[in-house]
Amino acid sequence: MSDQLIIFDTTLRDGEQSPGASMTREEKLRIARQLERLRVDVIEAGFAASSNGDFEAVRAIAAAIKESVVCSLARANDRDISRAAEALQPAARARIHTFIATSDLHMEKKLRMTREQVLEQSRQAVRFARNLCNDVEFSAEDGYRSDPDFLARVVEVAIAEGATTINIPDTVGYAIPELYGEFIRKLRERIPSSDRAVWSVHCHNDLGMAVANSLAGVTIGGARQIECTINGLGERAGNCSLEEVVMAVRTRRDYFGLQVGIDASQIVPASRLVAQTTGFVVQPNKAVVGANAFAHASGIHQDGVLKARDTYEIMRAEDVGWSANRIVLGKLSGRNAFKQRLQELGVELDSEAEVNAAFTRFKDLADRKSDIFDEDIIALVGDESVTSEQEYFRLLSLSQHSETGERPHARVTFAAGSQELRAESEGNGPVDASLKAIESKLSSGAELLLYSVNAITSGSTESQGEVTVRLQLGGRVVNGVGADPDIVVASAKAYLAALNKLRSKTERVAAQG
Ligand code: KIV
Ligand code: ZN
Repeated sequence: MSDQLIIFDTTLRDGEQSPGASMTREEKLRIARQLERLRVDVIEAGFAASSNGDFEAVRAIAAAIKESVVCSLARANDRDISRAAEALQPAARARIHTFIATSDLHMEKKLRMTREQVLEQSRQAVRFARNLCNDVEFSAEDGYRSDPDFLARVVEVAIAEGATTINIPDTVGYAIPELYGEFIRKLRERIPSSDRAVWSVHCHNDLGMAVANSLAGVTIGGARQIECTINGLGERAGNCSLEEVVMAVRTRRDYFGLQVGIDASQIVPASRLVAQTTGFVVQPNKAVVGANAFAHASGIHQDGVLKARDTYEIMRAEDVGWSANRIVLGKLSGRNAFKQRLQELGVELDSEAEVNAAFTRFKDLADRKSDIFDEDIIALVGDESVTSEQEYFRLLSLSQHSETGERPHARVTFAAGSQELRAESEGNGPVDASLKAIESKLSSGAELLLYSVNAITSGSTESQGEVTVRLQLGGRVVNGVGADPDIVVASAKAYLAALNKLRSKTERVAAQG
C-alpha cells in the first residue's frame, strides 16, 4: 500500500457551506492560489451546478491552478455532472466528484428512493462522469450510517464503472475513531476490486472527533486520502482540520509512516487568509494556527523552552509559517515593495489600476499605522469588496461623538449605487449609533446574528480592528468583514459588506453534508 497520503481540501466547497462563509469568485480564487502554494493535492473548488456564481468560480479556479487537481462536486445526475465537466474544462488536471446518499434514513426520507434505485443511479452517474473525465471520485453520502452490505454493493458498482477514488463520509460526525477505521477496513476487505481505487475519508466534527476519525480511517481503514478544510471550516461544527491532520502525520511520522506533499510553511498564511476572507475567526487556543498555539505563558514552560526548545514544543512555529508573516512595510515603503509583497502573498490584482488603488489605500493606512503587517495587506485588498466601485454600498465617511455621560451620536455618508446617502443616529455606543444611522436610510430588515471585533495583529493597540457582522434575511445568512484602525469605521464597513452580500441574490442548491 502506498505511503503517500493525498490531501483533498474542500474549504471552497464544504467549508463554504457554513452559514455566512460564502465567498465571491475573486475571494475563492485567492484562496485557491494559496492552497496551491500550500501544495494540496486536490482543491475542491465548488459545486458547479449549484449556482452560476459557483460555476464561474470553479471555472476561474480551473483556469488558474496548474499544480493541484481541481475538483467540482456534482450530485449523481447527468445535469450536475455535465455542469461540473464544463466548469472544469480549462483545468490542467480535473476531477469530478459525484455523490449520492446511501443510508436508509437519507434514501427513504430525503431522496425517497429505494436501494435498487440508488444503486442504479450510482452506476449511471459514475459511468457518465467517467466518459467526461478520467479522474472520478464517488462519495456515498452518510456512508458511515449506511448498511454495510448495501454500501459494499454500491461501492463495487462505482469501482466497476471506473471510479478512481471512493469516499466514505461521516456526514453527520457520528463516528468514533476505532469504529470508523474498522468500518472502512471491513468494507475494503469484502470488495474484491477495492485495490483499484484510492479510499478516502471525509469526517465532520460534530463530536469533536473529525481529525481522530480521519486518522483512524487511514491507519486502521487503509484510506489514503483525507478530505479536510483550512481552520476546520465547515457546516455546523465543521470538517476535519487540514492543519491539524497534516501536522499530526508529519510530527508523528514515526507512527504514521506516511508522506504528505504539503508545504507546511504556508499553513499559517492559509489559515489567516481563510479567516479574514470568511470572517470566521480562529480561536486563540486552536492547535497549530491559534494565536496561543506556540505561546508559553507559565514561567516553568518559558524557562524550559529557553533551555531546550523541545522540553515543551513538539513542532516549530516557523515550520508552520508563524514567522513568515512578520515582514513589515511602512510609510516609506514604495509601490514596488508593496507590489512585491502582494506577489509574495499570492494576491494577484487584475490591472495596474487595481494595484494603484490598493497602493493608495496602503499609503492611507501607513499614515495612520506605523507598521503594516501581511494581515493588514490581506485585509486591505479584501476591503476591495467594500471600497470597489463595483459594490453597491460603499462607506464614504463617518464621524461619531461619544463622551462619558452622553448618548453617542454618529454621522455616516455612504454610496448606494450612484446615490450618496447621509444619515445620523444616536445609539447605545458609537458602533450601535453608526449601524442605526445606516439602517435609518436602508430599512434592510436584516437581523444581526453576530458582531465580533478582533485585532488583526496581536500585541498592540495600534493594530487594525477587524469586524465581522453576520446578518440574516429571508433565510439567507451572510458575513461581512471590515478592517480599519478605527473599529467604528471597521464596523460600518463590515455592515455594508454584509448588506452587499445580501443584495447579490445568488440562489444555490445546497450540497448535502
Ligand atoms: O459530508 C458529506 O457527506 C459530503 C459529501 C457531499 C461528500 O460533504
Ligand atoms: Zn461534508
